[in-house]
Amino acid sequence: MVSISNPYKPNIAALRKITTENDVNDIKTFEVVFEDPDLARSFRYTPGQFGMISYFGAGECPIGIASSPTDEGFLEFTIKKVGTVTTALHNCSEGDRIGIRGPYGNGWPIEAMEGRNVVLVGGGFAFTTLRSLAKYILHDDNRGRFGDLTVIYGARNPGELIYKYDLEDWEQRDDINLIVTVDKGDSGWTGKEGYIPTILKEAAPSSKNAIAAICGPPIMIRFSIPVMTELGFSPSDILLSLEMRMKCGIGKCGRCNVGSKFVCLDGPVFTHEELQGLPKEY
Ligand SMILES: Cc1cc2nc3c(=O)[nH]c(=O)nc-3n(C[C@H](O)[C@H](O)[C@H](O)COP(=O)(O)OP(=O)(O)OC[C@H]3O[C@@H](n4cnc5c(N)ncnc54)[C@H](O)[C@@H]3O)c2cc1C
Ligand code: FES
Repeated sequence: MVSISNPYKPNIAALRKITTENDVNDIKTFEVVFEDPDLARSFRYTPGQFGMISYFGAGECPIGIASSPTDEGFLEFTIKKVGTVTTALHNCSEGDRIGIRGPYGNGWPIEAMEGRNVVLVGGGFAFTTLRSLAKYILHDDNRGRFGDLTVIYGARNPGELIYKYDLEDWEQRDDINLIVTVDKGDSGWTGKEGYIPTILKEAAPSSKNAIAAICGPPIMIRFSIPVMTELGFSPSDILLSLEMRMKCGIGKCGRCNVGSKFVCLDGPVFTHEELQGLPKEY
């Protein structure tokens, strides 16, 4: 009998741990483990790739992989509750089962980053795949292959900062320049206050032998790019990850295209140079 694999068939995974990330409790990190132990062992991905996550009966949606390939045996997805599928996922308990297809997309260009200084600029919960990349670079097996690492991360207020446990760890290290900012602090906040483009300008990371990756709300990206340009980063050394609406994730449905590009296949990561050549449909 001929066996035909179905690209739309999700792999079943169990939710091993659910962590609430923010004070208003609408962002959670889901640690998941594939039920098939062979798949759990063999699943490979690159920081910046995404999975199509399904809750049976509700539907599926694309979510960036927030764990690092150096985390063995499990995956993490950090999900904001915005609609049908994400609400169904937020209503889950540890032990519940979900579906995962993937990994999909190109991911951050690790090889192009090797030997260079890396600047990561993230805003809000869009920090997820930059967190994956930072964890990957900081892992003992990889740290020597990259130059200086600067991470500039901001949220609206201290309660909205995600991955506080990672931020605390990274603050203790001397091989990462971590700058955390909030738009508006509260009475207990002693850190930086200010919008990311302003803090980026103030920090002024050198563009010499450097490559930058930016993820965040469109307004943050719009105001950060001129700062990067002023700092001397060329459009080919500024990377962005697009969050278009998607249906199939595998280049079949045409839901995610921008000009001639399918964000699910050719992206979600593009250089600013590539995006300048595409219609502004994103
Ligand atoms: C490559 C990629 C990576 C992503 N990574 C993450 C992630 O790590 N964490 C996370 O929380 N979300 C992520 N998203 C966004 C996520 O896919 C959407 O929030 C999700 O599809 C919403 O599904 P839903 O059924 O809950 O919402 P729906 O019921 O479909 O919609 C609810 C509301 O959200 C809006 N919406 C839905 N999808 C999008 C979208 N892609 N862009 C803008 N507005 C949208 C709708 O217009 C509507 O207003 C990613 C998207 C892409 C394309
Ligand atoms: S999501 Fe279907 S073609 Fe990209």
